[in-house]
Amino acid sequence: MNKLCLLSLVVGLASQSAWAQTATTPASNLSTLQAKNAFISNLMKQMTLDEKIGQLRLISIGPEMPKPEIAKEIAAGRIGGTFNSVVLPDNRAMQDAAVLHSRNKIPMFFAYDVVHGQRTIFPISLGLASSFDMDAITRAGRVSAIEAAADGVDMTFAPMVDITRDARWGRSSEGFGEDTYLVSRISATMTRAFQGTSTQAPNSIMAAVKHFALYGAVEGGRDYNTVDMSPVRMQQDYLPPYRAAVDAGAGGVMVALNSINGVPSTANTWLLQDVLRKDWGFKGVTVSDHGAIKELIDHGVAKDFREAAKLAIKAGVDLSMNDKAYGEELPALVKSGEVSIKEVDNAVREVLGAKWEMGLFANPYLRIGAAVDDPVDRNAENRLHRAEAREVARKSIVLLKNANETLPLKKQGTIAVVGPLAKSSLDMLGSWSAAGLARQTVSAYDGLANAVGDKAKLVYAAGSNVTDNQEAITYLNKMDDQIHIDGRPEQEMIDEAVKVAQGADVVVAVVGESRNMSHEAASRVDLVLPGRQRDLIKALKATGKPLVIVLMNGRPLALGEENKQADALVESWFLGTEGGNALADVLFGDYNPSGKLPMTFPRSVGQVPAYYNHLNTGRPYRVNDSNYTSNYFEEPTSPLFPFGYGLSYTQFSVSDIVLSVNKMTRKDKITATVQVKNTGKVAGETVVQLYLRDVAASLSRPVKELKNFQKIMLKPGEEKAVSFTLTEEDLKFYNPSLKYAAEAGDFKLMIGLDSADVKETTFTLQ
Ligand code: NOJ
Repeated sequence: MNKLCLLSLVVGLASQSAWAQTATTPASNLSTLQAKNAFISNLMKQMTLDEKIGQLRLISIGPEMPKPEIAKEIAAGRIGGTFNSVVLPDNRAMQDAAVLHSRNKIPMFFAYDVVHGQRTIFPISLGLASSFDMDAITRAGRVSAIEAAADGVDMTFAPMVDITRDARWGRSSEGFGEDTYLVSRISATMTRAFQGTSTQAPNSIMAAVKHFALYGAVEGGRDYNTVDMSPVRMQQDYLPPYRAAVDAGAGGVMVALNSINGVPSTANTWLLQDVLRKDWGFKGVTVSDHGAIKELIDHGVAKDFREAAKLAIKAGVDLSMNDKAYGEELPALVKSGEVSIKEVDNAVREVLGAKWEMGLFANPYLRIGAAVDDPVDRNAENRLHRAEAREVARKSIVLLKNANETLPLKKQGTIAVVGPLAKSSLDMLGSWSAAGLARQTVSAYDGLANAVGDKAKLVYAAGSNVTDNQEAITYLNKMDDQIHIDGRPEQEMIDEAVKVAQGADVVVAVVGESRNMSHEAASRVDLVLPGRQRDLIKALKATGKPLVIVLMNGRPLALGEENKQADALVESWFLGTEGGNALADVLFGDYNPSGKLPMTFPRSVGQVPAYYNHLNTGRPYRVNDSNYTSNYFEEPTSPLFPFGYGLSYTQFSVSDIVLSVNKMTRKDKITATVQVKNTGKVAGETVVQLYLRDVAASLSRPVKELKNFQKIMLKPGEEKAVSFTLTEEDLKFYNPSLKYAAEAGDFKLMIGLDSADVKETTFTLQ
């Protein structure tokens, strides 16, 4: 009996529990490539064209299609997978429809946007990146996978690894920042964490890296906008993070909504075939973004739906997300010969291959399980991983300023906690918070209250709304959740906060953005604190009380004013389920902050795009002599806080760099060593960062590029040698002919605790 027959027989036998007992074909026997290919070829021979096209359809579970209709469509073989359903009985019913009632009994797969957590929400991706801690990021990814798999999810649309240098883009929050090396490391780490030991494991989910490609470079930071970029910049800076996920074994790739040099990614044969499949050897499944095939008409490359479907399938988009393009148009396109059956088959083979890799042919209920095992309450507290969330969240907090050792605070006296975000547990979750719940999330206020117990008194006032811009409120309220607006006049709220502050020993102001301001379709024209929050800060400063500003936001903000007014400034991003507790750990010194910025903080929006690894230009900006240099004349052109920056409650010194050799051949390794010492009074972690510059090359190279980093812990007075080893590989770049090679000549090697303040030496590649 061949395996397909066995599968059909077993599925035909009955319910999922019967399946679980009788489906004895072990995954290991089915796991060879040969077996997979034979199985899929065999299966495809038995499928009609309509059934094949059905496998290419991925639909969103939502109001668009009522549940009974979905079941009918699945049973008719017209849906290959769904996303947005995390309710086990619902997924089970859909799987039943597929494996008990459809002709070919091909299992469904269930996807979801598990970006920074499933039920336990970890910090937003920018926060995770701030940890510069691959173990912490692995923990976040693994817990996310375990919880998502337990909710019947097989695939996540993550990691999101779009390099972004423009903080106006709301989706900056979803990515890991501006730096190619850091984002690539995290991309591989997250992919491995989601997928675990095998994508066929019951507690693993398949990663579909997104948004391929270059979505973070949308012009003006305006979402869905055009991307126009030189091939060198693409290869050098923007493509490596997607490749890192592919190299780490990502089973899926989501195709971006934007065009690249005029050609939409969804119709981009060069991107999806030449780069992804031929150059990188990707063997998994590609999925369009939401409705993207239809959008080819708006892009102006397809005259109608039919042409859009044709372009997408020919370019290599396997799954069509939430539009009917393939279902409605492919049958006629195949009939007329405009699309070959081979082109359809290629896509079907990838979809079935992904299902195989997710372990679904071996057991369609692998992650759904049996009904008897369903949790009584799917939101039960014991399904969360709070300890892991708190641990990762505190590592994601970045201390930007700490004048006169304002922090850590003492757990005594009266602490005024003010600001529109202080009591918001919903905003603490950040965007794309999957199945996370606000009511299970610790707000900043609650975290501080938990920490002080009865040792100190907390007093509270909102102080302002997060914004008073009616147009913005109306726009944002059309998204999933509403911005909470206190109906009182703003001045009355500020006055109340001032009164509260006057009666306290110290003020903690929790200000920033609502979570839906840093989201998809949430681009901003400005980067200052929105609404009357700046007035609130001024008024609080005028009380003369020590002022700690805690920021909650999903993008770099222009914080010039706040930096002047605050005694201490803390970037907390959106910290997730345990956010308030993690924040309290840092504010009271139970954890010494160690986060570093993964994106440059500009002084004002006019500096954007702001990124540390820029080219030098022929007239580089000079701090004290800037006339006729590449600068802005109203304020310093340097950033307010550079990439890689973040303080600690202790201080560190970095010695001069010692190199193992000053000249290296292409076969040599070169080791750079510094002594890093904790010169302060408390133990702390810091991130030692190595940057390189190719001084004279066949094209202009960045003033510095991160090539490695190490996070180290030092006790007070302790000194450690930190060494980095470089090979020729680290010196390579894409030259004007797009050849990836290292060129002989001088290199600057820099080591520091942020990208601006570095020790420097030189060596030569012979
Ligand atoms: C659109 C977003 O661009 C993408 O990131 C997401 O995965 C899909 N919607 C599905 O929710």
